[in-house]
Amino acid sequence: MTTNIDNTLIQATVTRRDDHTDDIAVFELAAADGSALPVFEAGAHIDVVVGPELIRQYSLSNAPGATSYRLGILNDPDSRGGSRQIHAELKAGAEVQISAPRNHFPLAMDAEHSLLIGGGIGITPMIAMAYALKAAGKSFELHYCSRSQSKAAFLEELEREFGDSLTLHFDDAGEASRIDPKALAAARPGTHLYVCGPSGFMDWVIEQGKAAGLPDSQIHFEYFNAEVDISGEAFEVYAETSDVTVQVGPNESIAAALKAAGVRVQMSCEEGVCGTCICDVSEGTPDHRDHFLTDEEKEDNDQIALCCSRAKSSRLVVDI
Ligand code: FES
Repeated sequence: MTTNIDNTLIQATVTRRDDHTDDIAVFELAAADGSALPVFEAGAHIDVVVGPELIRQYSLSNAPGATSYRLGILNDPDSRGGSRQIHAELKAGAEVQISAPRNHFPLAMDAEHSLLIGGGIGITPMIAMAYALKAAGKSFELHYCSRSQSKAAFLEELEREFGDSLTLHFDDAGEASRIDPKALAAARPGTHLYVCGPSGFMDWVIEQGKAAGLPDSQIHFEYFNAEVDISGEAFEVYAETSDVTVQVGPNESIAAALKAAGVRVQMSCEEGVCGTCICDVSEGTPDHRDHFLTDEEKEDNDQIALCCSRAKSSRLVVDI
C-alpha cells in the first residue's frame, strides 16, 4: 500500500560533471535514449534515485527551455548519504534514474519586482528563476550568500549573465558584504521574495520579509532539508484504506508505525520538505511539523505529512 504519486522514472545519462568547488559538483543530465527530456519551469526540481529507498530532490538550475537538466549538488557532511553517494559515484557517462520535473516553487511572473535570495547551494533554483525573469524582461535582483568566494559555485556564469542584477554576499568579507533582506524587501513596492538555502537561513530571510511588511502571498520558499522534531505524546492512527490501526509512540513517526504494521508509506526526504508522503486526513487534528504544506493548507487540517507530523487529537484517520 503506498500513497498515490507519479512513479514514472526516466533513465538519464550524466553528460558532464564539473566540480566547481571542493564540495559542489555540477551535473548535466540528458535522456539515456537520446529523446528530449520533459520541459521544466523555473523553480522546478527532480527526484534522483540514489539507491534503493534513497531518493533525493535537487533543483534544476539551468535556463527553463533547455533540453538537458543541470543540478548543483553540495557534498553535505551532515547528509544522510544521498549527496555523498552522488559525489562518489556519479561521473560523466554514468546512468541514473530521475523523475520528471515537479514545481512547488513557481515564479509569480506578474510581480512588479522579484527579489531572489539563494543561501549556499540554495542558489540553484534562483539561477533558473533569474534566467526566466531575464528572458521575460522582468525587474529582478539576485543575491547569492555564501560563506566565502571559494565556497561559491557558478560565479563566472552569474556575473556574465546577470551583471548588475547580481549581488554577492560572502560571510568572510565583513559587515559591508552582509545581506539585509528586510531593507531589500521594503525598498521596492510589489516585491515578491524568493528564498532557498539552509533551513535556519531561510527562516531568517522569511522573518525579515514579513518584518518588511510583505504579505505571505509575496514570500515564496522551498526547503530542501530541515530539522524536524517528531517527538510528542502517543496517539492512535487508523489507516482507512488498509483497515489497519496503529499506536504511534512518543518518538516514532506515523510512517514508521504504519510500516511496522505492514502499511508502506511512499517517502523521499523523510524531513517534511518534499511532499511525497502527504496523505488525506478525514478525522482528527494533525500537529503539523512539515515545511511542505502552506500555512493555509495546514489550517485546513485535511492533509498530513506522514514522515514527521503528529496529532493534536488522540486519534487520526488517514487515507492510506
Ligand atoms: S517524505 Fe518528504 S515530506 Fe514526508
